[in-house]
Amino acid sequence: MFTSYPSSDRVNGFGRVIGIGSYLPKDVLTNDDLAKIVETNDAWITERTGIKERHISDPAEDTTESMAVAAGKAAVLDSGIDPKEIGLVVVASTTPNILFPALAACVQAAVDADNAMCFDVNAACPGFLTAYVTAQSYIRSGMVDCALVVGAENLSNYTNYEDRGTCILFGDGAGAVVLKADPELQYNTIMRASGKRSGCLRCESVMQKGKEKTEEFRKSNYINMDGQTVFKFAVTEVPRVIDDLLEKTGTNPDEIDYFILHQANRRIIESVAKHLRQPLEKFPMNIERTGNTSSASIPILLDEMKKDGRLGEGKKKVVISSFGAGLIWGAFQTDI
Ligand code: UT7
Repeated sequence: MFTSYPSSDRVNGFGRVIGIGSYLPKDVLTNDDLAKIVETNDAWITERTGIKERHISDPAEDTTESMAVAAGKAAVLDSGIDPKEIGLVVVASTTPNILFPALAACVQAAVDADNAMCFDVNAACPGFLTAYVTAQSYIRSGMVDCALVVGAENLSNYTNYEDRGTCILFGDGAGAVVLKADPELQYNTIMRASGKRSGCLRCESVMQKGKEKTEEFRKSNYINMDGQTVFKFAVTEVPRVIDDLLEKTGTNPDEIDYFILHQANRRIIESVAKHLRQPLEKFPMNIERTGNTSSASIPILLDEMKKDGRLGEGKKKVVISSFGAGLIWGAFQTDI
C-alpha cells in the first residue's frame, strides 16, 4: 500500500537544539606567523578584525569530511539520542574535499544515522544558517522528527597566502547541532539574497575544461574578496534583517539574551550591537581564537557557549544571524 508521507494531519512544531558538537584542528596560525609570510602585523590585524589566531587543518589528518564527521559525532553524543532516530543529515560547506558523494552521506555513515536522508548545502558563510533553516522546514512539515545539521570548512585550501587582504581572516573547523521536533518551541526566520551583488566575494572551481592555466586563473581558484564592499554590505543588511525579524516576532531587543553572529570581523559585530543599542556582552565572540570559519563559525561558537554554561535547556532567547558570499544573509530567532 502507498502511504502518503508526511501525513497531512501531523504538525510537528520546530526543531529544538538537543545536542551540539565541534572540531577545531590542533595547528594554530598566529598573526605573528602571518607577518612572516605577508606584509602585515599583529596590531593591524587585531585592530581591523579582532582576530589573533586561527586553527588550520593538518593535511595529514584533517579533511572537510573528517572535520564534519568529528563535529557530527560529538553533537549526536551530546544529544544522547539513538542515531537511528535522525531522519535528515545536512552538511553546509563551501570547501568540500569531495564533490560527491555528499559530505552528509559520509557523516550519516560515520554516526550510524541509517534512517536519514542526506544532502549538502553550499551557501558560503551563511551555509549553516541556510542548512538549519532548511532542516527546520523538514521538521515543521512533519517529514522528519530529528535532524543533524553540520557546518564544516577547510578554507585554508582556498586561501591565497600571498594576499594579505584575505589570508589574515580565515580558519578551519566544523560544528554541528542535533534538532528534535518540539511543538512548544518558538522559532522564526527571515532569509535574503542578492545574487546581483555577488562579484565582491568569489572563488572559481579549479576543474574547468577549456580554461587556460594562466596566473589569472590560478588566482581565481582562491578566495577573492573586495573586503570593503563585503564589510559595508554586512553592516547595512545584518542590522536590517535583525530589526525586521524582531518586528515580525514582536520582540524587543532587550528581551534577547544573545545575538549570535557569524564571526567574520569584530568591527561588524560591534556595529550591529551599536545599531541595536545592546551591550556587547550580548554578542558572544570567539573570532579572536578561530578567525572566520565560514559556515562552521556559528555551531563552533554555540558549542563553546554550551560547554561554558551560557546555553542549555532551552532557557536562552537567541537571535542567530549570518551573511556572506552570494550575497546571502538572514537571521532566525529561537530558544536554546
Ligand atoms: O564571511 C564574510 C566574508 N568576509 C567579510 O566579512 C570581510 C569583510 N571585510 C573586512 O573584514 C575588512 O574589509 C578587511 C579586514 C578585509 C580589511 O579591512 P579594511 O579596514 O576594510 O581595510 P582596507 O581594505 O580598506 O585597507 C586599508 C589599508 C590599505 O592600505 P592603504 O591603501 O590605505 O595604504 C590596505 O592595503 O590597509 C591595508 N591592508 C593591510 N595592512 C596591513 C590591507 N590588508 C592589510 C593587512 N595588514 N593584512
